[in-house]
Amino acid sequence: MAAIIEIPTKVLTNSSGQQRIPVIGMGSAPDFTCKKDTRDAIIEAIKQGYRHFDTAAAYGSEQALGEALKEALDLGLVSREELFVTSKLWVTENHPHLVVPALQKSLKTLQLEYLDLYLIHWPLSSTPGKFPFPIAVEDLLPFDVKGVWESMEECLKLGLTKAIGVSNFSVKKLQNLLSVANILPAVNQVEMNLAWQQKELREFCSANGIVLTAFSPLRKGGSRGANEVMENDMLKEIAEAHGKSIAQVSLRWLYEQGVTFAAKSYDKERMNQNLQIFDWALTKEDLEKMDQIKQNRLIPGPTKPQLNDLFDDQA
Ligand SMILES: NC(=O)c1ccc[n+]([C@@H]2O[C@H](COP(=O)([O-])OP(=O)(O)OC[C@H]3O[C@@H](n4cnc5c(N)ncnc54)[C@H](OP(=O)(O)O)[C@@H]3O)[C@@H](O)[C@H]2O)c1
Repeated sequence: MAAIIEIPTKVLTNSSGQQRIPVIGMGSAPDFTCKKDTRDAIIEAIKQGYRHFDTAAAYGSEQALGEALKEALDLGLVSREELFVTSKLWVTENHPHLVVPALQKSLKTLQLEYLDLYLIHWPLSSTPGKFPFPIAVEDLLPFDVKGVWESMEECLKLGLTKAIGVSNFSVKKLQNLLSVANILPAVNQVEMNLAWQQKELREFCSANGIVLTAFSPLRKGGSRGANEVMENDMLKEIAEAHGKSIAQVSLRWLYEQGVTFAAKSYDKERMNQNLQIFDWALTKEDLEKMDQIKQNRLIPGPTKPQLNDLFDDQA
């Protein structure tokens, strides 16, 4: 077996302890694969060195991930302390009184006593119990950010999670949250890739001690035509010059920007490829060219019709 790759970590300065989040995480959404595929992929990922596993109540992957983690723990492949498990609060439970029960339910499904990170999945609240996706705007309710965040802080105090954070929050939405928070969010998980570089949001997060985790780092999660990253001729040239794949060049770029990311591959070779980004570097010329890539968002948000003010100033 190939040597396990040691993935660097970043300290979550805004959480209560000294938690460290691995720079590379393994995604699990959307989980339409059979449970055995998920289980096999997670076990393989642990063998290769992955320690951060990203899931959410909405993904349908908590159960299979939990079973795989339990098996890995029982086999002694890894200890609970070495793992970093993230899950997320879905919009139907984004109400102050539903936060703690939602996290308790996720923990039960995952067969875990605590999470390492719990995130508000979207800055939106919808009618409890109604689960259509995309969410109909008629089902949206006012988002009580202060009340929900107090409940997130309660989750931390109860020891149900080691750190709390948010996902899909723009600068403006983070500013609102920071104005009411007693404990600052440790992480903001958002779309970030070479075709959606999030410069303003990154600066804001960095200035406020919030670690940014990039989702859809290869821009493959959406369902639409050309992939502006994986089918980009300029990136292909850069990749060939380094003897790497476009995926590796894209992930290395994220690493060099100082963010963490969750990429998803359930394929043994590709998940290994995505770890091989630490012993080489992009050149200044590469970075200048990458800066010129046309920017647009891949993930438009979970509502139908789409909400113009959901991301407000995220760019
Ligand atoms: N917070 C949020 O709202 C949110 C939204 C979206 C995603 N996420 C999280 O972020 C994770 C990653 O995002 P994502 O799944 O949208 O996108 P992604 O990681 O950019 O792309 C995943 C796709 O890329 C393929 N892939 C992975 N490595 C590859 C490689 N080296 N070469 C070629 N293809 C490769 C995978 O296929 P194979 O499996 O066949 O390799 C899969 O189809 C999700 O799984 C989820 O956990 C969070």
